[in-house]
Amino acid sequence: MSLVFRLLKRSTGLLGHVAILAFLLITTGASAQIDQEVYDKGEKIFKANCAACHKPDKDMTGPAVKGATQRWEGKGDLHEWIRNSQGYIKSGNPYAKQVFEDHNKIIMPPQAVSNEDIDAILYYADNYAPAGAKPGTTAPAPETAAQPSSNWEWLLITGLLLLVVLLSLGGVRHQLSNAVREKQGLNPEPPLGTWGRIKRWAGRNKGWASVAVLLLVVWGSVLCWNFLFRIGVYGGDKAEHYKPSQPINYDHTLHAGADNLAINCQYCHSGAEKSRHAGIPSANVCMNCHQAVSEGPATGTAEIAKIYEATGWDPTTMTYSGPEKPIVWNKVHNLPDHVYFSHEQHVAVGKIECQECHGPVDTEMDQVQQWTPLTMAWCLDCHNTTEVTVAGSDNGYYKEIHRRLAETPMGQRELRKYLEDEKITVRELGGWECAKCHY
Ligand code: HEC
Ligand code: HEC
Ligand code: HEC
Ligand code: HEC
Ligand code: HEC
Ligand code: HEC
Repeated sequence: MSLVFRLLKRSTGLLGHVAILAFLLITTGASAQIDQEVYDKGEKIFKANCAACHKPDKDMTGPAVKGATQRWEGKGDLHEWIRNSQGYIKSGNPYAKQVFEDHNKIIMPPQAVSNEDIDAILYYADNYAPAGAKPGTTAPAPETAAQPSSNWEWLLITGLLLLVVLLSLGGVRHQLSNAVREKQGLNPEPPLGTWGRIKRWAGRNKGWASVAVLLLVVWGSVLCWNFLFRIGVYGGDKAEHYKPSQPINYDHTLHAGADNLAINCQYCHSGAEKSRHAGIPSANVCMNCHQAVSEGPATGTAEIAKIYEATGWDPTTMTYSGPEKPIVWNKVHNLPDHVYFSHEQHVAVGKIECQECHGPVDTEMDQVQQWTPLTMAWCLDCHNTTEVTVAGSDNGYYKEIHRRLAETPMGQRELRKYLEDEKITVRELGGWECAKCHY
């Protein structure tokens, strides 16, 4: 009887372990399910129609859309409001009137969207997760949260869990053998403890033990290596994007975004096409417009006043009467001094879009961040894969290269082979030569 009892007691321990294992697998495997199709649709319509004034999760010109369904529950028809907010206020709904008054009576213009579109938008906003985080979790985990990121790590976790099960089974065996010893009138073996059991298992299974140790060492080294490689690297998929604060809350989505003012990048970064540096505009460039515009939708007069302070502009007398104090912007992108990089080469000659290297500045960056890693591997990668259209190009620079290659004597096969498939990568033109990028 006591044997059965003890076995039962022991196996509840085992069950506990199995339960933990199942729990871990379930909780880590399945994050809250969301309907990705509706979410994506909502995001698209939101960005096209609402993003000029709303953010899903933060107040901008209009309030955060997240939670609106809840706020309006039982107080009014949100669909009617969105399609024609002023009309709906006139229909006499008190809550609609209150929302309007709470927002300084800024008018939300009528929106040409269907009920289905609105439902998708509201769904998107309620489940909104910032780019990078997985939508669906109500409080998106910070990007740095420890989560197994590779198959390797999953393998290791599974291995460790199996080990736990094995050790528990070992415990059951220990109990059984003690029960047998007891029957034979011998003293029970003292319990070994977890570490003791691992040692005994390793002693009996030397082959497997060394494989396990080897795997642990390899895994540790890979982690170390990855860590070392990320030191000093910002941007890219894996590292945090560098995003220093700025003296003025200048918003690229508002100024450069197609839905908003849609100012051309080179209106302000005029160096990009004709020199190494794209350049940061002086406050005088801002004043082309801000002599007239002294108030913004999100920050009122507070931020634009700083432009006036920098230029010595007095908005009451409309004259430049005060002292000038240049704005000191914080650098976001910064290559080391030993690297040569030219915007002109890439923008004017290579015809590469700013966004390819700087990310969605005009659509997502209310504050500029370093989007790509700017490592040497990043430069080389693009040079290796990007083709330049040399033949038939109306680009004088390439015409010249094509002429020279075509005139290369047949003996110099090395150069002529570039022309055989009419495909030339930046690398073949010398984009991998150390001296092109290093002083
Ligand atoms: C031109 C700016 C603008 C655009 C575009 C805009 N809104 Fe608004 N929205 C506002 C303002 C401002 C308010 C605050 C109420 C008011 O003053 O009328 C508001 C209020 C709202 C509210 C009420 C929020 C609450 O908490 O009660 C919802 C919901 C909403 N907007 C959804 C949308 C959707 C969906 C779209 C796109 C289809 C959209 N808005 C487009 C400016 C805008
Ligand atoms: C109205 C002027 C203006 C326009 C238009 C503009 N920018 Fe800017 N940009 C600035 C100012 C001012 C800064 C410096 C402050 C900051 O970093 O936010 C800046 C900073 C940047 C930086 C970071 C520079 C650094 O420190 O490394 C990048 C990259 C950039 N802009 C790209 C773009 C792109 C791409 C566009 C077009 C989609 C664009 N800008 C349009 C004014 C402008
Ligand atoms: C081509 C015209 C133009 C130029 C150039 C321009 N702005 Fe603006 N800016 C505007 C307009 C228009 C608004 C107001 C938008 C609105 O009310 O919807 C604005 C708004 C702002 C705001 C308020 C934003 C908010 O959400 O409250 C700030 C701050 C600002 N600009 C800074 C700058 C700085 C700094 C520069 C120069 C680097 C600059 N602007 C250059 C047209 C311009
Ligand atoms: C091939 C990649 C690439 C393209 C395309 C590119 N940039 Fe850059 N950009 C860089 C790199 C790399 C730096 C950092 C340069 C440094 O630190 O010397 C940089 C820096 C900047 C800066 C900081 C100040 C400066 O003058 O260097 C601004 C502003 C900027 N870029 C704007 C732009 C704009 C606007 C465009 C499009 C017209 C553009 N860039 C296109 C890679 C690129
Ligand atoms: C998105 C792709 C892309 C990235 C990223 C990129 N480049 Fe380039 N690069 C090009 C293209 C395309 C050309 C060809 C333009 C031409 O014909 O000269 C080029 C040409 C060059 C050249 C001239 C090569 C020659 O043969 O004369 C230099 C130097 C250069 N890049 C440096 C860099 C550096 C440094 C970086 C990283 C900080 C970088 N590039 C990142 C696309 C890229
Ligand atoms: C297309 C441009 C490009 C070419 C070609 C290139 N490099 Fe680099 N290199 C870079 C950039 C950009 C960095 C800066 C990376 C950073 O700061 O993370 C760099 C950094 C380095 C560093 C310093 C390492 C560090 O961590 O700062 C060394 C050493 C180096 N390169 C050597 C070479 C050698 C040798 C070659 C030729 C085989 C070469 N590079 C070719 C762009 C280039």
